[in-house]
Amino acid sequence: MRGGGHFSGRLTAPLCVAGGIAKQILARRGIYVGAHLDSVGTAADEHFPLYPTAELFEEIAAKPFPVLDDVSGARMQDAILAAKNAQDSVGGVIECAAVGLPAGLGDPMFDGVENRLAAALFGIPAVKGVEFGDAFCEAALRGSQNNDPFVIEDGRVRTKTNNAGGILGGITTGMPIVLRADVKPTPSIGRPQETVSISKLESTELTIHGRHDPCIAHRAVPVVEAVTATVLLDLLLEGDHGTF
Ligand SMILES: Cc1cc2nc3c(=O)[nH]c(=O)nc-3n(C[C@H](O)[C@H](O)[C@H](O)COP(=O)(O)O)c2cc1C
Repeated sequence: MRGGGHFSGRLTAPLCVAGGIAKQILARRGIYVGAHLDSVGTAADEHFPLYPTAELFEEIAAKPFPVLDDVSGARMQDAILAAKNAQDSVGGVIECAAVGLPAGLGDPMFDGVENRLAAALFGIPAVKGVEFGDAFCEAALRGSQNNDPFVIEDGRVRTKTNNAGGILGGITTGMPIVLRADVKPTPSIGRPQETVSISKLESTELTIHGRHDPCIAHRAVPVVEAVTATVLLDLLLEGDHGTF
């Protein structure tokens, strides 16, 4: 129970180990996975471009704070420090992309790429929502706005936009996979909180002591990347997609 047990951020270390190995195996096949912090509180970074590159992923990974736009990154850090100073916490969103995947990976029903990724991503403590492509914005659009028009470019089938996040019917389209994971504000905050005493069956107050992250989101960026890489490698190994 001490240190949060199953829900501790520490348990994400083995996920990162597995993901680091998966990423190296995927890279041999020209498949690259990268992530950045998309927002913290109301401070937002840019989204990934239509075709993120391995170089862009490396550039972000080399930064002390994993964002595309450093000015937005500074705003996010301000939001984290403001929450910390208020003995509070703040949540965030992580955007992850995978490029170089073949079209046709996945399954139309329960073993779809979305299903498999979501099942694993929800295993990361504090992840409370996962969207593929522009899922939650799509609801406000019409089909004509949301459909990704198909085009032939350099002899390959592509789409002009990627609102679907590279997945249709649970199956990869060959466009980059794009997903976003919501990370809730850290529950262990310095402020006194309302709770109950189970032994006395009455209301009481809880003050949590010790070190706490005022934000988990920036620390979970490599975890989302690692989990995504691991699941994609699993899917490739299960299918008839050549040797690894
Ligand atoms: C990198 C990382 C760091 C975390 N740090 C904290 C922390 O400092 N305090 C805390 O209460 N929870 C922390 N958590 C755990 C979650 O916030 C969460 O409390 C727990 O998993 C509850 O379940 P949930 O997944 O439904 O949100 C951390 C999780 C991760 C991934």
